[in-house]
Amino acid sequence: MKKIQKLLGKKNKSKIICLTAYSKNIAEVIDKFTDLILVGDSLGSVLYNYNSTRKVTLNMMIEHTKSVRKGVSSSLLVVDMPYNTYRTKNEALKNCRKVIKETNCDAIKLEGGTKIVPIIKHLVQKKIHVMGHLGILPQSVKGKFKFKGKKPKERDQMIKDAKAIEQAGVFSFVLEGVEKTLSKIITKNSTVPTIGIGASENCDGQILVTDDLIGLTKSKIKFVKEFSNIRKIISNGVKKYRYEVLNKKFPSKKYSY
Ligand code: KIV
Repeated sequence: MKKIQKLLGKKNKSKIICLTAYSKNIAEVIDKFTDLILVGDSLGSVLYNYNSTRKVTLNMMIEHTKSVRKGVSSSLLVVDMPYNTYRTKNEALKNCRKVIKETNCDAIKLEGGTKIVPIIKHLVQKKIHVMGHLGILPQSVKGKFKFKGKKPKERDQMIKDAKAIEQAGVFSFVLEGVEKTLSKIITKNSTVPTIGIGASENCDGQILVTDDLIGLTKSKIKFVKEFSNIRKIISNGVKKYRYEVLNKKFPSKKYSY
């Protein structure tokens, strides 16, 4: 797959730009600036106000990806497999095939390390492109998210996990909420690109939730930088619309039949 080769070729050469999208309109705008677009199960909290990504279903991921697919032409399109859809090899294969068939996505993403190695291996053997996800694993967290890599035991485990999922065949993996020297070690030891979110500049690429970076959400997360304030732009547009309707300026002749 050419797009995956292109991504791999960027390791140690050029930073990899990744973002999330949950709909065609956003995907269409960001596609020319990104290498990879992820339909993340973060849509559960960002769009549906769920307190956990565990409530996200396979059908939700499929429907959002169908929309996103319509807006993506050049980026690699990756879909998060939601909670409880890849507990066994058979379950994972059946669900990943369903997602790929119905959405025409390029790859899927799974959360976890050594424990899910047999699943990753099985999917890769069946020619499914798999992206990994280490560090904070939102599908496994109950309560507050805590950044990873403070304790030596945790660091050793993550280094082992990274090696294990790489050897199992992931083409890349996300590092979420990882201490920066640990990100550096993992990125240096890995032959596939690491994509950081709250994992410092030491990763091969970066990903953010697009709704956070454009200021559509009011995120207070430390690693989120608001690059624009779309809420303000929407507010201004809606304010003008309201004014013109109230004052009978809209719709004028130009906008009427
Ligand atoms: O669900 C998601 O959006 C993600 C990214 C934050 C990496 O997994």
